[in-house]
Amino acid sequence: MRMNFLIESTLQRIVYFASRYLGYANLAHDFAQKAGLFIAEKKQDYLYVDPSRITDLPCVEAKLALDLDVFRRFSEKVISENRTLLRFQRLFVIWQALYNVRHLKLPMVEVGSYRGGSAYFISAAMRHFTGEDIPLHAFDTFEGHPLSVLDHKKDPYHAKGMFSDTSYQDVVNYLLDFKGVVVHKGEFFENIGKLPDGKISFCHVDVDTYLTTKRCILQLMPRLAASGILLLDDFGAGKCPGVTKGVNEILDKLAPYQMWQMQTEQLLIIKR
Ligand SMILES: C[S@@+](CC[C@H](N)C(=O)[O-])C[C@H]1O[C@@H](n2cnc3c(N)ncnc32)[C@H](O)[C@@H]1O
Repeated sequence: MRMNFLIESTLQRIVYFASRYLGYANLAHDFAQKAGLFIAEKKQDYLYVDPSRITDLPCVEAKLALDLDVFRRFSEKVISENRTLLRFQRLFVIWQALYNVRHLKLPMVEVGSYRGGSAYFISAAMRHFTGEDIPLHAFDTFEGHPLSVLDHKKDPYHAKGMFSDTSYQDVVNYLLDFKGVVVHKGEFFENIGKLPDGKISFCHVDVDTYLTTKRCILQLMPRLAASGILLLDDFGAGKCPGVTKGVNEILDKLAPYQMWQMQTEQLLIIKR
């Protein structure tokens, strides 16, 4: 049984922030792993579940547990290195979605890659499930939300440049190990032409805002292969009302697809 810690004590807070801001995050992470610890910042107002609730599930005979040790390794890495805003529950939904599309062996797409953590997790998971480096096209401005697609009424909690504490080159370097990853810098709809023709197996859309969400779904759903999955982050999330509004407006177009509203503030759409 591993021990999992949330940052709650002052001491943990000091160690976490010192390691993060003094540039020793990897060192601290390796040390913590060797000591059997897992340390990550606890986010306020975030649907949170203790990782042990997922990763220490009793899995005697439970084949659907889907390699929980591997899930834990990848998810702890990207969370503790501060590469993703996602936490275990949402990553576990991604993990299972990828398991269910692994047979398609078709390219994948992520819109909203930010610091590269979710793209790393998707690539590592797919490599684990298929033994291959399946292409992943990762899109972001890497300069935060672009003003051109913000709607101040529908996206009241989002502003130009939010999530700009990242860089294209840093994310490219972080994902270098995966031969199939292509990182595209710029506003998604100005770049969508860079997505090669053909069907795709999986899309992760994590853009927080109204217009981009709506456009991503309308443009990417027709590109999905049968049984492919589009997973939308922040559906139903209070801090991203534009995401839910965007989906609600195109429900008639989504009627042919299977729709799964997860308790994790994610919407999982499956092409029949
Ligand atoms: C919440 S962050 C993504 C979080 C990331 N998936 C993770 O795991 O932490 C949202 C990202 O969407 C990007 N974004 C929003 N609208 C965009 C657009 N129209 N084109 C490209 N990137 C966009 C922002 O730059 C930002 O990095």
